[in-house]
Amino acid sequence: MAKPRYAVHEFDVVVVGAGGAGLRAAIESARAGRKTAVLCKSLLGKAHTVMAEGGAAAAMGNVDSRDNWKVHFRDTMKGGRYVNSWRMAELHAKEAPDRVRELEQWGAVFDRTRDGWIGQRAFGGHTYPRLAHVGDRTGLEIIRTLQDKGVHSGLSVFMETTVVRLFKSGDRVVGCLAYERDTGAFHLFKAKAVVLATGGFGKAFQVTSNSWEYTGDGYALAWQAGADLQDMEFIQFHPTGMVWPPSVRGILVTEGVRGEGGKLTNTNGERFMFRYVPDLYKGEYAETEEEADLWVQQQVDLKAGTIAAAQAKARRPPELLPRDIVARAIMAEVKSGRGTPRGGVYLDISWRDPEYVRRKLPSMYHQFKELANVDITKVPMEVGPTMHYTMGGIRVDPETQMTPKVKGLFAAGEAAAGLHGANRLGGNSLTDLLVFGRRAGLHAAEFAASAPAAPVNDAEVDAAVDHFLSFVDGTPGENPYKVWEDLQVVMQNKAGMVRFKGELAEAIEELQAIKKRAAACKAPGGTAFNPGWHVAMDLQFMVIACEASCRSALLREESRGGHTRGDFIETNEKEWSGRNVVARNVNGRMEMAVEMIPPIPAELQKIVDSKAEEISTKGVA
Ligand code: FUM
Repeated sequence: MAKPRYAVHEFDVVVVGAGGAGLRAAIESARAGRKTAVLCKSLLGKAHTVMAEGGAAAAMGNVDSRDNWKVHFRDTMKGGRYVNSWRMAELHAKEAPDRVRELEQWGAVFDRTRDGWIGQRAFGGHTYPRLAHVGDRTGLEIIRTLQDKGVHSGLSVFMETTVVRLFKSGDRVVGCLAYERDTGAFHLFKAKAVVLATGGFGKAFQVTSNSWEYTGDGYALAWQAGADLQDMEFIQFHPTGMVWPPSVRGILVTEGVRGEGGKLTNTNGERFMFRYVPDLYKGEYAETEEEADLWVQQQVDLKAGTIAAAQAKARRPPELLPRDIVARAIMAEVKSGRGTPRGGVYLDISWRDPEYVRRKLPSMYHQFKELANVDITKVPMEVGPTMHYTMGGIRVDPETQMTPKVKGLFAAGEAAAGLHGANRLGGNSLTDLLVFGRRAGLHAAEFAASAPAAPVNDAEVDAAVDHFLSFVDGTPGENPYKVWEDLQVVMQNKAGMVRFKGELAEAIEELQAIKKRAAACKAPGGTAFNPGWHVAMDLQFMVIACEASCRSALLREESRGGHTRGDFIETNEKEWSGRNVVARNVNGRMEMAVEMIPPIPAELQKIVDSKAEEISTKGVA
């Protein structure tokens, strides 16, 4: 008898991705009694979640008692320039504290306040110190905790297993095809529900904090299955990535450095961020270096308990503006000739006690020491923007995280759109994945419980296997690495931090050519241990994610959050507020639409319109 072309597995719920969102979803599904599998492209424990180093944002008010969910909601909406899904922002702000405390119950060891509460640090765009943290290794601790919890919840884990196709029966997802990285063997996973928690597509850019796994798989899989992609123009360039040496360019330098008082300066020694406070944030940030320094001292006093929250009156340093603003300011300094010769600026934490820096920022200390031979307790770091995160993603229902168009298909974390609007506040991703990972798992389990088993069409599986084997069939073709390199050049130069109509139109045209080349890629060798073949398959995803991003960026003729149009530099509230850009699949063609966000309820609008102090002191709504 001929050997089957693929192994077959049957689960109630299959979760694709084992970062925080995937693990949290899988835990919830398993707790609900569903037979659950987690498929991860890499090894368990290695996910972009670990790159959220500085902390998880949750309004617990442990350091500053003025904090509450309403201020967090307001900050998130403001940071997202009001195109967030207000319902997701509300759920997130309300549920984040419980999700963080639950992690603690599951064994996460957070830094503490003097009184033994979970410690919280300041971060960009958050009015109060709000980030529960473990030094600068928060994401790592969260993954460790979820992994531990997960393996004791009865999950089946398939490591180094990459999903390449979803299968449907009617309008319902019924399974997926995956291959093993080492052997190249194919696996069919039949499932009643699938959760995509595949992260973003940073590897489509030259300079990124993302590692090799982040090639837009979930966006492309969902779009191919008929789900909509939303707001893919909103890309977050984290202001501080390493710029030197070249081999580590883009690696993250946590915002926690600025949260602990790190100062950004140009080559003239100027603390330039004071010049970049936009009208939207006027009055909320320190206007002098003295006030900014006083804020740092007051944070120390607050944590030591020597002053009460109400006495901490100094405003935050402008280095703690939201990321889009800081990244653009750095870019402007470099363009004006005030950057370092390598195209960065300086970030200085060496003015603080070296022992404190080593304790609060241990990874940064080692990262710079080992990779750049720089002692950050003695000299400044050199930093510059790096592609870090995609605010847009798969369109989901805010309550359940299910895609409205494909039943049984869910998305969570960076794979999903909505919570962060046009710009994500640092630390909101870790609680995003806890809150919405849990919701996705819960609702996927519910869906699976009531969904009858549905058949997977064998002919479709065979055709998909043939398709993916065609990239390694021994015939001559394009080198996948060269196509990938060319794709990165297009995205970095024409769809990067500042976009223009002409360049975006060129990018879309060039992407069509790259798509054809990607389809004709050939990797030499067989299916076992063949990274060239993997890149050829990753490219099929990247071209879709990039096309959606460029088409969305071309359509949105304004600047907002992580989308800066050099030719439409203002935010156009009249024509673009309250609107999502949607990329949909119409018979395999990408068609674009602009859709209104459902109206925000009056009581939430009142919170959005209020000042943080008013919410803290008067309650509001
Ligand atoms: O800077 C950081 O630690 C990253 C955090 C995040 O992306 O949320």
